[in-house]
Amino acid sequence: MKKYGKEELRNLKKTIKSDNLFYNKGKMTGKLLKTIRKFFGIKYAAVMSSGTAAIHCAVAALEIPPGGEVITAPITDMGTVIGILYQNLIPIFADVDPHTYNITAESIEKVITENTKAILVVHLTGNPAEMNEILQLGKSRGIPVIEDCAQAYGGKYKNKKLGTMGDIGCYSLNAYKHISAGDGGFVITNNETYYERVSNYADKYYDRHGKGVRLSKLAPNYRITELQSAVALAQFSKLSNIVEKRHLFGNMFNKGIMGLDGIYPHKVYDYNYASYWFTMIRMDPDVLGCDRDKFVRKLKTSGLIKAGAGYIPRPIYLEPLFVNKHFFPGNIWPAEKIGEKTYNYQEGMCPIAEEILETAIRIPIDESMDESKVEKMIESVKKAHSKCM
Ligand SMILES: Cc1ncc(COP(=O)(O)O)c(C=O)c1O
Repeated sequence: MKKYGKEELRNLKKTIKSDNLFYNKGKMTGKLLKTIRKFFGIKYAAVMSSGTAAIHCAVAALEIPPGGEVITAPITDMGTVIGILYQNLIPIFADVDPHTYNITAESIEKVITENTKAILVVHLTGNPAEMNEILQLGKSRGIPVIEDCAQAYGGKYKNKKLGTMGDIGCYSLNAYKHISAGDGGFVITNNETYYERVSNYADKYYDRHGKGVRLSKLAPNYRITELQSAVALAQFSKLSNIVEKRHLFGNMFNKGIMGLDGIYPHKVYDYNYASYWFTMIRMDPDVLGCDRDKFVRKLKTSGLIKAGAGYIPRPIYLEPLFVNKHFFPGNIWPAEKIGEKTYNYQEGMCPIAEEILETAIRIPIDESMDESKVEKMIESVKKAHSKCM
């Protein structure tokens, strides 16, 4: 099944014929923004060059003075934390639930300090984080909440679309997401001030809305182009079908492998709607009597399932960048200096996240599958399981 086709080509042709590729007041970007607002039932949307850019602009829009702490997830893409670091803020990692793999109000509360200025929740793999408790915690402490929905198109928490509950929601249109423009991203919000700031932070603070704030703040150029908007617009028309299929096949797979000793399906609460960018199961080597790599090899030899070990090799805070605190040249980390506090990133910070990434198996789910394919995937897990036991 091809990701791009006639619809994208038609929009690209129209764009070239229009002889304008600049996003501001561009027809395709205008239509894309309208489509995004309608899809999410949200007041404001702004588009930019990547999901990383969307998150960076969202963090910047909160206008937190340097040295502030932002609590986020340890199992995520680097794109979640880049904006925190570039805004001279300190990423603080909360541990995750052992079966949903998302941060929770309880784990966030454990690392909250007087200096916590924002919470950046990641809905990992499109499985909704438990938002009511997180929003309640944020509200009680006056801390804004950003949702990283890069992997979570179409996901719903208690019937509410992901990205619409926090102060700002961020999406990615990179090449591997549910829908894509090659690269790209967008922000959604019901807050006019955040919307205006996010739009300006994505475009050098050039004040394209004419509010008299031109070049009043430092901001990068994260502009999208009309070509990306043309592709993204066509992709949006395919989104509901993609999400429905992934939801169906992901749930079917996780249900199908329930009850196997030592195998833990990805936990999705009944009241939530997961959109399965992929799914991730866990195995207990002691119960199964074989290690993860051996189990993955057994799964792969069946030829019916494309399993992989883990998602990222280790929690993001254990990457050399964090362990060595080499965020800027010269080994100077301005945020830490301003905060007048030493921060160290080391093993044991989020023990559950560390254990998950040592015992998790990534199972790709996608819209090109059908039910018989999912049945075969379930069978191969059962076979590998019986061979290990
Ligand atoms: C959870 C998460 N956040 C942020 C990003 C960054 O998105 P992009 O690659 O569009 O910059 C990604 C991309 O993989 C992601 O998965």
